[in-house]
Amino acid sequence: MKRIAVITRDCAGVNAAIRAIVRTADSYNIEVLGVKRGYSGLIDADFVKLNRSDVSGIINFGGTILKTSRCKRFFEESFQLQAVKNIKENNIDGLIVVGGNGSLTAAHILASKYNVHVIGIPATIDNDVKNVELTLGADTAVNVALDALDKIRDTATSLERIFIVEVMGRDCGYIALQVALAGGCEEVLVPEMEIDMDVICKEIKEGNSKGKVSWIMIVAEGKARAQDIADIITSNTGFETRVAVLGHIQRGGRPTATDRIIGAKLGNYAVESLRNGLTNHCVTIKNEQFVEIPLNIATQPKKINVSSYYKLIKVLT
Ligand code: F6P
Repeated sequence: MKRIAVITRDCAGVNAAIRAIVRTADSYNIEVLGVKRGYSGLIDADFVKLNRSDVSGIINFGGTILKTSRCKRFFEESFQLQAVKNIKENNIDGLIVVGGNGSLTAAHILASKYNVHVIGIPATIDNDVKNVELTLGADTAVNVALDALDKIRDTATSLERIFIVEVMGRDCGYIALQVALAGGCEEVLVPEMEIDMDVICKEIKEGNSKGKVSWIMIVAEGKARAQDIADIITSNTGFETRVAVLGHIQRGGRPTATDRIIGAKLGNYAVESLRNGLTNHCVTIKNEQFVEIPLNIATQPKKINVSSYYKLIKVLT
């Protein structure tokens, strides 16, 4: 194995993974090409050579030094063929894909349909990759959202207000549940769970009659818009509400120690795995051991135990 390439999405910890990939590969005299702007760079042959010094001083930065994109073109066969041609023409012996479901699905296509040697590193703030305990970027995202929530709580408590805080999570309530539990919130609304707004409004009114005046409710973006929930509460209870949409701040920021360590370990292990001939798998850590998951499994929908989170959140309210 003489040359590998790395392709990335953005979230905290991805730069730590790039650094580990480049430096591990270098220790085996394997050259690394960085693919610019995600799969777009694979289709357009936009590569940059990465050596040891190119990745110095990046471990503490969020995002990805390679830039990225959402590349719908890749899901058309003609562009896949173009990407595979570029892989061959540039003598790329193996590819490491650092990303979430979309990136890993594309990686699976490259491996299963075109026999490209591919290893994935699950990286998404949504933590929705099947059989993966913790994806790269999720820990930082939860901590960024929690930090914002703590600040909102200061004003919510002072003004005795109801706040609806919208966090990211298109199909998965992971961030919402973690933040609701860690932030001591009264209510959480996630895509995986049905909600009854009448029940919630009744609880708020009952709470208010007993003197509970400040509420913080977390809603995952995939469940509902925070403003819509706020409007329902105001019209049903007559209480004033405020809304905060945290948005993309959750995908950025200085990676936590956890994300840097996951990035370092998995970047290293992904190179070792390619060298050992593994392909069409992603690598992860479970109980402090490395685990390899076939990409066709990892890309299936992940279920989280929403009801156990929810019960605890409600008991502790
Ligand atoms: O998949 C990660 C994620 O941050 C989701 O939580 C969110 O719904 C989506 O990406 C936002 O995508 P974009 O940055 O393309 O708007």
